[in-house]
Amino acid sequence: KRPAGAPDKGLARPVTKVGIVGAGLMASQMALLFARQLKVPVVLTDIDQARVDKGVSYVHAEIDKLAAKGRLSADGANRLKALVGGSLDKAAFADADFVIEAVFEEMKVKQQVFAEVEAHVSETCVLATNTSSLSITEMAFRLKHPERVVGFHFFNPVAVMPLLEIVRAERTDDATLATAFSVGKSLKKSCVLVKDAPAFVVNRLLTRFMGEIIRAVDEGTPFEVADKATEDLGLPMSPLVLLQLVGPAVALHVAETMHRAFPDRFPVSDNMKRFVEAGKTAVWTWDAAGNQTVDPEVAALWQ
Ligand code: 3HC
Repeated sequence: KRPAGAPDKGLARPVTKVGIVGAGLMASQMALLFARQLKVPVVLTDIDQARVDKGVSYVHAEIDKLAAKGRLSADGANRLKALVGGSLDKAAFADADFVIEAVFEEMKVKQQVFAEVEAHVSETCVLATNTSSLSITEMAFRLKHPERVVGFHFFNPVAVMPLLEIVRAERTDDATLATAFSVGKSLKKSCVLVKDAPAFVVNRLLTRFMGEIIRAVDEGTPFEVADKATEDLGLPMSPLVLLQLVGPAVALHVAETMHRAFPDRFPVSDNMKRFVEAGKTAVWTWDAAGNQTVDPEVAALWQ
């Protein structure tokens, strides 16, 4: 059955090579998924060779883990590794049909990335963005071919979470959207078409969710109580652990986007800002015996 709002799948263009801009954790997880499910070459790029190498090494290590679990044969693992490469030069995207960016969550950076990529790819190459909350229409605004831009929003961990939000921007054409749905289906994701609104659908909810828990802590609820209560509610993980999975800096960016759009509904906690400014990535710390306690430096930020 065709997903609600998806154009005729006959309009989808084939994808024989994928480019990924950014080689961070989310981008590397995407590289593995694309190579594994589409079985096409995937090239990761980033701003320096060390980042590119780190991304490719992550993918290769994940492939080794899959082989160790018996999910891939030794041959299959080698074939998969051969599909994933890295380059510093976006000219490596020249024959790509689908390029996705997962760089820093900043509109100007993403616009610049798309402008650079557009100089190297064919007129019909899809430019997809994994942005968590920013306007896809604005991102496409100054491009020669804004009709090939689409939102393609994964959830962490990319390999495990079934959902993919596909975002139609103002100028996105049917062939681009059909290609995005076709790729999403090949990746075995559950694709939904969402509007180009701040944080789309799911991050509106998650931002509210995490924001309210942080506010409860701001108001004096201990981290331990907030964590236990939400875990025992039956959520897959407590919002405070989810914060660590998503990355506090990303979560804060999304919260700030929502705050700009809806200031009354999405206040941003000053303690949360201090937490990110301090470079902290988790509320929790674990001792050698595996006991979980609140990182004292984090606790001090909330005093
Ligand atoms: N990377 C790859 N695979 C992972 C993983 C990771 N980081 N974490 C877990 N997995 C895999 C495990 O290997 C395991 O696979 P297997 O069954 O094939 O061996 C499977 O997931 C289940 O893992 P576990 O049994 O260890 O753990 P759980 O059953 O507790 O599940 C979870 C872990 C799937 C992460 C679950 O806790 C969960 O669903 N959490 C909620 C995650 C969520 O809400 N994500 C959305 C974040 S918002 C976002 O990303 C949007 C962005 O824009 C901010």
